[in-house]
Amino acid sequence: MNSHGGREHPPAAAPTADELAPGVEIELDIGPVAHGGHCVARHDGRVIFVRLALPGERALVRITEARPGSFCRGEAIAVRSADPRRVDAPCSHFGPGGCGGCDFQHAAPALQRELKGAVVAEQLRRLAGLDIPVEVEALPGGEFGWRSRVRWALDPDGRIGPRAVRSHRVVPISERQPCLIATPEITAAVDVLDVPPWVRRAAPRPPRASRAKGPERRGGRRAAASALPEVLLARAADGAVTPTWPGRGAPESPVLTEHAAGQDFVVAADGFWQPHRAAADVLADAVAEALTGIDLAGRVVWDLYGGVGLFTAVLADAVGPDGAVVCVESDERAAALAADNLAGHPGVGVRAADVRTVLPELDPDVAAVVLDPPRSGAGPGVCADIAARRPDVIVYVACDPAALARDTAALLAGGYRLAGLRAFDTFPQTHHVECVARFVPASS
Ligand SMILES: C[S@@+](CC[C@H](N)C(=O)[O-])C[C@H]1O[C@@H](n2cnc3c(N)ncnc32)[C@H](O)[C@@H]1O
Repeated sequence: MNSHGGREHPPAAAPTADELAPGVEIELDIGPVAHGGHCVARHDGRVIFVRLALPGERALVRITEARPGSFCRGEAIAVRSADPRRVDAPCSHFGPGGCGGCDFQHAAPALQRELKGAVVAEQLRRLAGLDIPVEVEALPGGEFGWRSRVRWALDPDGRIGPRAVRSHRVVPISERQPCLIATPEITAAVDVLDVPPWVRRAAPRPPRASRAKGPERRGGRRAAASALPEVLLARAADGAVTPTWPGRGAPESPVLTEHAAGQDFVVAADGFWQPHRAAADVLADAVAEALTGIDLAGRVVWDLYGGVGLFTAVLADAVGPDGAVVCVESDERAAALAADNLAGHPGVGVRAADVRTVLPELDPDVAAVVLDPPRSGAGPGVCADIAARRPDVIVYVACDPAALARDTAALLAGGYRLAGLRAFDTFPQTHHVECVARFVPASS
């Protein structure tokens, strides 16, 4: 799709809301951006989430999904009136029906960040009742080639890559047609990747056409596709790429070494580490900044959802040799690696446990809590529990604006106020954004 209107479309009577069905094409005025990488449009009272469009544009939209009595999804296939900051996407995999990994390649980088800031602000307004402007900061290193971790699928024909948007179809990545957000080393690794025997044995084959027909056959193909083997490719600080094939019979993944916040961290190749090459350092700095102004020397602090200890290290510096940091991480391997990574800090203790169950066992006298939960958020129970301990500061690192907004509402209800928020474009070209929110007691 280009930015000048694309192909001609014969005038036709506009369909009614009930006639919107997959394949129907309709011209729409595109409304605001929404969480999830699309914009909102309306037709005849029905909401349509439109990918590949920008707020204020007029676009020809092809409906891709229509739930009876509910919203539709669609993709802009031609733009009649374009936002001046629309750009031609550089990646050959990006476009209608294409790769599902990127959402905003058609927007200039500054506009991408504006869209993400609008989504964070809208979630905080809707779910937490806060009306604040949100500016998203760019990370060093440029808009492409930043992604040091990918989880891609292997299809029965041996192709490896991300899945197409809302589909199990594999978008094949090769050096000729690379993934532009992945580091070049990751694309290069795909071309020479060996598929281990246990993956080949486990890989489903689609049913033979002669044995399955009609919907049964399509269902079989869908089932086979959803169970495609996956490979995790992790590029470490030294540039080496380690593949891990999860699944039954797989050996334990190797470890690799990352560097951030002034020290090395050993992490499992299939364990959590920030995918953007600069993100761990940027977020560690933002957490350190959110802790400033509060004297934590010699006090007790918590790092919840601690991974291999990135923010534990920041907290250990803040409390100094006489303080204590409790790192809680449910993944046993990550917790063990965190203990090793932080072995030089005598005040650090690591609990391999679920935050939800371990909180009542922790010393209630806590001066600061850093939490960095998964996409689903910490939840109201954990937030209420943290607020009930009355720490001087709560620093919430969030990869999902809706979860951040829900948990913000719980912290506000627990007697805290949002005292600062920074947002970072840790996932350029996608709709994802990372926030670091600082909460202090409402009375302070
Ligand atoms: C977004 S990662 C953050 C890791 C770390 N803070 C970092 O920046 O590298 C979330 C971590 O929380 C862990 N986790 C998920 N649910 C958990 C729970 N209920 N209790 C404790 N840890 C959990 C995951 O294993 C993962 O390591």
